[in-house]
Amino acid sequence: MPEHLPVRPARPDETASGDRYQPTLDRTPARRSVFEEAGGMPFFEGLVDRFYQGVQANPELLALYPDQADLMGARHRLALFLAQYWGGPTTYNEERGHPRLYMRHMAFAIDPAARDRWLTAMRAAVGYMDPPPHVAARLLQYFDMAAEAMRNQK
Ligand code: HEM
Repeated sequence: MPEHLPVRPARPDETASGDRYQPTLDRTPARRSVFEEAGGMPFFEGLVDRFYQGVQANPELLALYPDQADLMGARHRLALFLAQYWGGPTTYNEERGHPRLYMRHMAFAIDPAARDRWLTAMRAAVGYMDPPPHVAARLLQYFDMAAEAMRNQK
């Protein structure tokens, strides 16, 4: 079926304008992304700022970072990645290409202790930012899963 055709006939309460449906009744609210619900870019920038304060305060965690004197690049990359992952702008991909996060973490020895140091700093940052509970739950669940997925050492 050509793409511009509606997938079902118009209901009486709908009018077709060109190739676009314009429902006038019975409108379901658009689902908001976690990115929006969290508060957009300022939320992810704040989260990552707080996270890197935690990294800086933890010498064993900090030791993994290639440019310890200047974490600005790392902050920028993590904030853009998270914003994109949760439905925000796709600037990360434009700047860095496909995330391939596991591959990008191969250079760093991530064992369970390192994973847990990272997670502790990130959980504290989520707590500090205090997003709505359903947003906090999604973020924390994701970080648990993704931090384990980055582990590359026993
Ligand atoms: C939830 C899990 C994680 C996510 C989503 C994540 C995300 C990212 C992203 C997006 C980058 C930048 C990649 C790039 O474009 O080059 C990065 C870099 C890095 N990550 Fe992770 N990471 C995670 C877990 C970890 C863990 C568990 C560790 C170590 C304990 C770690 C250590 C690093 C280091 C050392 C870098 C290099 C910093 C830099 O970008 O200059 N990450 N991470």
